[in-house]
Amino acid sequence: MAHLELTAEEPPCAEDGVWLTCIECSETFAPFDDVRYTCDDCDGLLEVRYADLPTWDDFEGDGVWRYDAALPTRSGVSLPEGSTPLHDVDRLEDEIGVDRLRVKHEGMNPTGSFKDRGMTLGVRVAQRVGVDRLACASTGNTSAALAAYGARGGMETLVLLPAGKVAAGKVAQASLHGARILEVDGNFDTCLDIVQDLAMRGEAYLLNSLNPFRLEGQKTIGLEIMEQFHEEEGTYPDRIVLPVGNAGNTSALYKCFRELVKSGAIEESDVPKLTGIQAAGAAPMVEAIEHGWEETERWEDVETRATAIRIGNPVNAPKALPGIRATGGTAAAVSDEEITRAQRDLAGEGVGVEPASAASIAGLRKLRNEGVVDSDEEVVCLTTGHLLKDPEAAAEAGEDPEPVPGHTEGVLEHLEAN
Ligand code: F0G
Repeated sequence: MAHLELTAEEPPCAEDGVWLTCIECSETFAPFDDVRYTCDDCDGLLEVRYADLPTWDDFEGDGVWRYDAALPTRSGVSLPEGSTPLHDVDRLEDEIGVDRLRVKHEGMNPTGSFKDRGMTLGVRVAQRVGVDRLACASTGNTSAALAAYGARGGMETLVLLPAGKVAAGKVAQASLHGARILEVDGNFDTCLDIVQDLAMRGEAYLLNSLNPFRLEGQKTIGLEIMEQFHEEEGTYPDRIVLPVGNAGNTSALYKCFRELVKSGAIEESDVPKLTGIQAAGAAPMVEAIEHGWEETERWEDVETRATAIRIGNPVNAPKALPGIRATGGTAAAVSDEEITRAQRDLAGEGVGVEPASAASIAGLRKLRNEGVVDSDEEVVCLTTGHLLKDPEAAAEAGEDPEPVPGHTEGVLEHLEAN
């Protein structure tokens, strides 16, 4: 994992052993002095760096803040978040044909998605740098999480959503938690362009995954998976399969593994293969991996039933592409039909997820069928959002209700006849 090597040397700008480093030109910046999302010099993505990296003994308590020793602040605006289940899915494990399959259900966070892990930290940092208005572009979940954590922190929030392309549960959350919702005539990538402009003009603090602090919170998904899996299985997973939109989680997991190796908590050979799955109608990361490109090419027209990952310009690609490659992982695209089938299969084991989440299972099935994933692998699939986020998609994937008369005899007759 030579790329994006972590440096341990503390620059003078560090505060409490924490600073920001540009992944392109290695320029360093103070972490909390100024509002900054990218490098002043070259506009490259920033990463949070630490003078000291913790190991397993440094962690105690539950949830995201169990891992405070690996984070840039010691507490957050919390609901609380993290400590999500790592489900067994025995029937899927048999049917897909891998040695072990566990599902890390991030839909069990307070607002129903993994975004809460980033927001508990991001909103705390926003308070620390002294801003009063928070903003994000979103396919839905980020806006729900930002609205809830903004409300919790007593801050004003602004969310930009692609009009008509956000699942009902997510809009309802953002609305009730008191965010101001701007429905943009354009797709997610247009929303992100606008919100970045607003942030650069000082109108609001940006809490998309371009914000390096948010990714630190999301890093705890990796810490939890490694700890839970090791405790229950006695090993670390060979592979982690996850849905990819902006590639924030992919970047966060890669950083998690680099830090664990650097601190000596795990060996380099313990690092799981990061395997990113996109919807076929929005797959610029898959395209870049297949062609060996250093960057993604922006897709102007994107479409998929998995609206959470309907994204054509993954801003974290420069962090995530090296992560997929360095860990020996890969990327694959799945159709909406494959996603819906996987959503039904997970629901059939009691695990309710939204369409984007099911992409991980759909992708694993596809890669196993193609022989890219071996039968002796131990795999964790990440499911990123809860079933109730997108009730319409769930109802379409499930069976229709059956009308019956309002008396027992009629109900019995119906049950016998059908
Ligand atoms: N799964 C779900 C349910 C999501 O909401 C998202 C991203 C992803 C996967 C992709 O994660 O960006 O880290 O690769 N949703 C963002 C949003 C874009 O606005 O809610 P990623």
